[in-house]
Amino acid sequence: MISTDIIELIFSTARIEEVIGEVVNLKKRGSNYLGNCPFHNEKTPSFSVSPSKNIYKCFGCGVGGNVVQFVMAHDHLSYPEALRQLAKKYNIEIVEKHDPEYDEKEAEKESLYSVTDLAKKFFTDELWNSEEGKDIGLSYFEERLFSKAIIKQFELGYSPVQKDAFTQHAIKKGYKTVYLEKSGLSISKEYGAVDRFRNRVIFPIHNVSGRIVGFGGRILNQEKNLPKYLNSPESDIYHKSNILYGLFFARKEIIVQDNCYLVEGYTDVISLHQAGVSNVVSSSGTSLTVEQIRLIRRYTKNITILYDGDAAGIKASFRGIDLVLQEGMNVRIVLFPDGEDPDSFARSKPAEEIRSFIKDQSSDFIKFKTNLLSKEAEGDPVKRAGLIKEIVASIALIPDVIIRSEYIRECSSLLDIKEQTLIFELNRVLRKNTPKQHREELDAAITDEIPFEIQPIENIQSIKSQEFNIIRVLLLYGNQEFTYSWTDENNKPKDAPVKAAFFVINELMGDDYVFEHPTLQKIYEHFTQAFKSQTIPEETVFINHIDPDISNMVITMLVSPYQISDNWLDKHGIFTLNEENNLKHLVISSVFSLRLRKIEFMISDIEKKLKDVKDEDILPLMKNLSDLNRLKMAISGQLKRIVLR
Ligand code: UTP
Ligand code: MN
Repeated sequence: MISTDIIELIFSTARIEEVIGEVVNLKKRGSNYLGNCPFHNEKTPSFSVSPSKNIYKCFGCGVGGNVVQFVMAHDHLSYPEALRQLAKKYNIEIVEKHDPEYDEKEAEKESLYSVTDLAKKFFTDELWNSEEGKDIGLSYFEERLFSKAIIKQFELGYSPVQKDAFTQHAIKKGYKTVYLEKSGLSISKEYGAVDRFRNRVIFPIHNVSGRIVGFGGRILNQEKNLPKYLNSPESDIYHKSNILYGLFFARKEIIVQDNCYLVEGYTDVISLHQAGVSNVVSSSGTSLTVEQIRLIRRYTKNITILYDGDAAGIKASFRGIDLVLQEGMNVRIVLFPDGEDPDSFARSKPAEEIRSFIKDQSSDFIKFKTNLLSKEAEGDPVKRAGLIKEIVASIALIPDVIIRSEYIRECSSLLDIKEQTLIFELNRVLRKNTPKQHREELDAAITDEIPFEIQPIENIQSIKSQEFNIIRVLLLYGNQEFTYSWTDENNKPKDAPVKAAFFVINELMGDDYVFEHPTLQKIYEHFTQAFKSQTIPEETVFINHIDPDISNMVITMLVSPYQISDNWLDKHGIFTLNEENNLKHLVISSVFSLRLRKIEFMISDIEKKLKDVKDEDILPLMKNLSDLNRLKMAISGQLKRIVLR
């Protein structure tokens, strides 16, 4: 647990434009910054960051939040994880409230890290300083033309022939065998623990912050019955599905190039780096996972896959690429000439030549897939039908409706199939992929001509609209003034400027109003508290509130001001048309709508009571009811007048 003092310190220290600027290319526009939204696909920037409010919002897709929420959404972290990450960035020391379970897990991870760090030092020391390491390991790397600098940068090493060289070294240094085993570096046998890596060159695997989480070890002479590469097993610090080899060294260049090259192996990454092409990572022989794709998406939306395989190998990877499309990323493919892989190709070529080769040779994934499959299906109508289905299935995964329709158009000409046919198939797939509860909406939206978009339904519906609306008015317009007119005791017309927030609070306090929604009540209390000193809380108080319920709620209101659409006026009597121009009407109608709702609630309460009540109690209840009904009429009358004016 992180103490609230620290949370506040993090909020006040973290600069949103700095944090977001690391992953989004931001340009200054007045007092704000503007860039391309990292949460949806776009070509013209609609993602805005306000340093003064410590908030970001996207006018394209509607997402928004404070600095911590950005880190959560972008890096897929929990609230405490995001706080920790920011604390680290700003050198804020987190003093933990005591939570033994958490402490224990962290301590365990630290022990694993210290074992992997020791192993890295051991392997590099062997490589550079032992006779065996120099003779076997270093000369192997030299044969592959790895430079000394690149060997040092990637912290490559060597594990000796002796069966327990590292294990003995670690035990001598006082390391416990449990951690040696948990890290996978040692394997226990009946006769004692031995090393996993023996007589191999070692590729340490770094996580995004540069710490070693595991190792790959390559065999030196091709013995038939041994695997070419051995890898560390999964552990508390090494989850293969969310590690990309080389990412630690590639991050900055991926942002600069706005593209991430994906290669198959360790040596491809290293050789490209050596050649000066460093926006490159590898999923190390396994198929790409969603977590890995999201890791890349933190830095770019463009991914170029460099293949050295044959058609069968490439087809096997289509599934992984579909995942990339689904994450809204753009995928391009490069095929290397026969017998070449990025590693061999990169050797003795300047970076510029490699880059321009990749650029010239790469083709868009959908087109690539279409071409590859249509070659195979030539002259076979059954195969051709299957091909259409398969390509449309990929297109259907692309979240952006406009890009989808562009692909449909292109594939229609590539395959010489009517666009209509493809659209029909696309709609069928989209419908199938849509959860049941949204299907009706979808059907209503389906036309035969244009593909459609499915909008996620926000969970605001559960909040009483009038309550939501009044807080929204306080937040958005609280500080603005309107002229309030009334008649005094002597029937003289009067008017005076009043701040919207003061008007609302004054009215609601008169009603002793209590919000049904607990978070809205909390926000309201901030306003009533401030009202006592005739002040109005700043938006930032809520945006950066340490209670995530409050910040979430407020940010939802701020970033999605059109959540309440025009037809709500009919449904709920809420005034929304041209709010800015009709501040007075908006404010007054919001108060009246809330009041009306409260009264309706009281009426239905009495009506319920009337159903089973003793005769003598009926009369007072009826009186009460008719009072309320009269009040209701009066208020709806007033409301109508306000609204219709
Ligand atoms: P490759 O066989 O293409 O190896 O496997 P490579 O990286 O090109 O290595 P060199 O050039 O022969 O030295 C690609 C990746 O698949 C994983 C490794 O991560 C490797 O880099 N792999 C391969 C294994 O994990 N185990 C294996 O036995 C083979
Ligand atoms: Mn290779």
